[in-house]
Amino acid sequence: MKILTALCCGVLLAGGAHAAPSIKGDPKTGKALHDETCVSCHARMFGGDGSGIYTRADRKVQNAQQLAARVSACNANTGTGWFPEDEAHVAAYLNQQYYKFK
Ligand code: HEC
Repeated sequence: MKILTALCCGVLLAGGAHAAPSIKGDPKTGKALHDETCVSCHARMFGGDGSGIYTRADRKVQNAQQLAARVSACNANTGTGWFPEDEAHVAAYLNQQYYKFK
């Protein structure tokens, strides 16, 4: 029984170490991809660095699933040809920086 308990706690702790368990990506890689590909269009619409699109009061994205879906849709629209891992990196970056979904 002791062994079981240790196993369970180990899994819980490992899960808690990630800031956003539902979004598995590397925010640093994501930032580079994002800044290269995604900013210009949003900046034209919102001014500045374009981040207003993520922080506006009536923003569209309300949870991690929607964030992943939106990144995927914008990726498809712009024809960047990113792999799913790249989308995950960017979603992780946007989540860490702006959305902060758990
Ligand atoms: C061709 C212009 C354009 C490019 C390039 C673009 N986007 Fe967007 N993006 C938009 C528009 C327009 C909206 C707002 C749609 C709305 O308000 O319904 C948007 C909205 C978003 C949102 C949702 C913001 C919210 O309301 O919470 C996310 C996330 C997003 N884009 C991510 C990306 C990512 C990641 C990339 C790079 C692959 C990207 N976008 C590139 C035009 C673009």
